[in-house]
Amino acid sequence: MSSDTITVSRAAHGLHGTITVPGDKSISHRVAILGALAQGSMNVRNYLCSEDCLNTLRAMQQLGALVTPSDCPQNFTLTGTGMHPQAPAHDIDCGNSGTGMRLMAGVLAALPFSSRMYGDPSLSSRPMKRIIDPLERMGARITACGTKPGCAPLQINGCQLTPTHYELPMASAQVKSAVLLAGMFCEGTTSVHQPAVTRDHTERLFRHFNIPCTISDDGLDISVTGPVNITAADITIPGDISSAAFWLVAASIVPDSNITLRQVGLNPTRDAVITVLRRMGADITITNEHTDGEPYGDITVRSPRKLLATEVYPHEIPNLIDEIPVLAVAAAFAEGTTSIRNAAELRVKESDRITTTVTNLRAMGAEVEEFDDGLAVTGGKPLHGATLESYHDHRIAMGFLMAGLNADGETTLLNCANINTSYPGFREHLQALTH
Ligand code: S3P
Repeated sequence: MSSDTITVSRAAHGLHGTITVPGDKSISHRVAILGALAQGSMNVRNYLCSEDCLNTLRAMQQLGALVTPSDCPQNFTLTGTGMHPQAPAHDIDCGNSGTGMRLMAGVLAALPFSSRMYGDPSLSSRPMKRIIDPLERMGARITACGTKPGCAPLQINGCQLTPTHYELPMASAQVKSAVLLAGMFCEGTTSVHQPAVTRDHTERLFRHFNIPCTISDDGLDISVTGPVNITAADITIPGDISSAAFWLVAASIVPDSNITLRQVGLNPTRDAVITVLRRMGADITITNEHTDGEPYGDITVRSPRKLLATEVYPHEIPNLIDEIPVLAVAAAFAEGTTSIRNAAELRVKESDRITTTVTNLRAMGAEVEEFDDGLAVTGGKPLHGATLESYHDHRIAMGFLMAGLNADGETTLLNCANINTSYPGFREHLQALTH
């Protein structure tokens, strides 16, 4: 079998050990972008050296930011361009990353040169109109050149933008951030209203870099007043809770487990996976909590006596959107029917995660119902191993490997190379925790 394939079987003795999951993906993209615009040099610690975030960092190097050492180990010095990046010499490769492309579009649209961004087949089929619309209202000139309407490659003819107020039609941190990043270059105040609270890493980094930004008490209205100056400021990126989520579920579904995940980001706009798993009966303890711009702590998970089904509430959805495939796996081991609705956004992720999750759960023998906007999983029936597609989606690959850790027989995930877009070192952690 190719090296893109991973096979697991039941972790008969449970999961054990302590690991440190890699740095947060969402924060890493944002640190690269804002650091590249800052005046001066900063030390970046625990950057996520995954393909997605390396692509964003390389793009920033093309714009004139200096990275030393240049090949990006997790810790490096980033020297910014003082809000005056240079035109890129080549088209910008965003790989698989919707976050990279959408956030950078907000910056590139406001710069006085032309640029072009492209991505892999998955990214080239994801909707870009959601960022083009608000940026065009600010005066941006962006053409979606893909074979699929509204999709990448994006040709951007940068120009001076004007502020806007934008009511987001969907709860998307990427759209919110694209508008706010563009707003940094405008004369005056750019504001957004989001229908639900989404991850607030951009806002926290605005504070970290002293960028003038206001946030309403309910977190739904955010504004930035430009043009801004950014002063470089050292930063340490916490571990990615979305990567930790795989092990939170694995240790909750595999009997006799006891694991600790160190220094995981616990941002309240990202931690609903913990809330929901606890509601299902998971035994999760948090210690050593600290806040350094972002809250983080150590998470210990022990196998619970049993898991019970739950309902995931609408307001929780944006807060755990990336964890839904693996939560659905947990639901397959929980007594009763777990319902996850109001999650139509899943259809435009790296794969259509409603269909891919439902297909793979059914292939393992789970009882699942598919809806336009989500799924319902009736758990309790033992799962059996199967050979499954990853659909070139890192979270589908990792999520179903977790299912395989408590299924009869072998579970093989095909085409897992995509795991490297978010979780370098995943195989080593799988090996360390299950042996
Ligand atoms: C992200 C926002 C979410 C999430 C993605 C990362 C971000 O996407 O699914 O993995 O870093 O802003 P949407 O903004 O499309 O909801």
